Amino acid sequence: MPESLIFKDRNKLSPYYIPKRLPHRDQQINTLLSIYGPLLKDIWRSYPRFIQIVGPTGTGKTCTTIRFGELIAERARKEGINLQFVYMNCKVDGTTRYVLYSNLVRKITPKLSVRSLSPEEMIRQLIEYLRFEEIFLIVAFDEIDYFVQMSPKEHIIYDLTRIPEFHPGETTPVIGEIFIARSLKWHDLLESGERSTLGAGIIEFPRYTSGQIRDILEDRVGEAFQPHAVPDETLDLISDITAGPPVNGDVRVGLELLYYSGILAENMGSRKVLPEHVRKVYSGINPTITAEDIISLSNDGRLILLALVRGLRASGSAYISLRELRKFYHIVCEEYGVKPVEDFEAQVQDLIYRGIIDMKSLMEIGISGAAAIDLEKFLNNLLGQLERRERGI
Ligand SMILES: Nc1ncnc2c1ncn2[C@@H]1O[C@H](COP(=O)(O)OP(=O)(O)O)[C@@H](O)[C@H]1O
Ligand SMILES: [Mg+2]
Repeated sequence: MPESLIFKDRNKLSPYYIPKRLPHRDQQINTLLSIYGPLLKDIWRSYPRFIQIVGPTGTGKTCTTIRFGELIAERARKEGINLQFVYMNCKVDGTTRYVLYSNLVRKITPKLSVRSLSPEEMIRQLIEYLRFEEIFLIVAFDEIDYFVQMSPKEHIIYDLTRIPEFHPGETTPVIGEIFIARSLKWHDLLESGERSTLGAGIIEFPRYTSGQIRDILEDRVGEAFQPHAVPDETLDLISDITAGPPVNGDVRVGLELLYYSGILAENMGSRKVLPEHVRKVYSGINPTITAEDIISLSNDGRLILLALVRGLRASGSAYISLRELRKFYHIVCEEYGVKPVEDFEAQVQDLIYRGIIDMKSLMEIGISGAAAIDLEKFLNNLLGQLERRERGI
């Protein structure tokens, strides 16, 4: 493949890439280090700390926490301590305790078989294993608000904050649990006992300003693009769009704009990514749904979303009814040769909790944030993405 005139390394724009430097998040990383760092000095006598991280989408909660996990594990290694940092994402790793804990155990060791164990037993065996192997653990539970919304009856917080009580009077190998959520609203679904064991340790992630977004994107431009391929005006425009409503500071959208504007510039044979490329791309994306959201959906979720997109296009309006959605869903399933899910309503509910679709009533189901965009263009774009996914491209 001939070298691109635009990109140097487009992977650096992926939502999963975490750069070495995280501008404007030093304070949050340092706070986390100042909480967990001192525990390393006397690890055999330390008690677990629960911390909550709260901030809107795209404020760097996930990448900052993962970076912190690398830093603390590295510090521990220097002190001769085997400390593992484990990142769990409830949207990906499960919304029942059974599935979530199985995945937690699997990420820590292949040595424990958890089949046929109850969630409580899994945790108990995990703790025994860690004690025996002298491994310490900090676990981050990302999107915990999503878990609690989906499964409030599981009382996961009660469960997780009780781990230290397994061996009363002794220390526990689990020295930290970090709960990440978009706001504190999920507390409404907790029992008062759960709220109080969670404690008051909260680290806030404020929305980025336009200037901060510019700093973040500028770093990324340096890694991903050829020198001079992205002029200042382009970067300014993307930063302003990302900082303002309806995006409201979600850096993921800024990174997507950079990426797709780069692709467009390349396809048009331009040597530079120009503001006009950005405007063109922006009119065709929905700032509330990014490629990352689509990737993290289950196949069934994607097919329902595809059905919704088809239904909306066929109806020409911003909403269709649940019944119509079901009808389109069955057509889509037939087309792709899959069996329709039995828990259709629950799957629709899941898409609502994820913030991807909007349900005003049973008669009005639409795409979140669609009012702010050119629906026709966006739907075409989304349809393309979804169909490519279904075909496994
Ligand atoms: N301070 C930062 N520096 C560099 N990249 C960042 C920063 N904050 C966020 N990002 C990038 O923006 C995207 C969204 O960040 P993420 O941590 O997923 O946000 P959140 O978890 O709050 O929704 C990721 O691709 C991440 O790498
Ligand atoms: Mg996140």
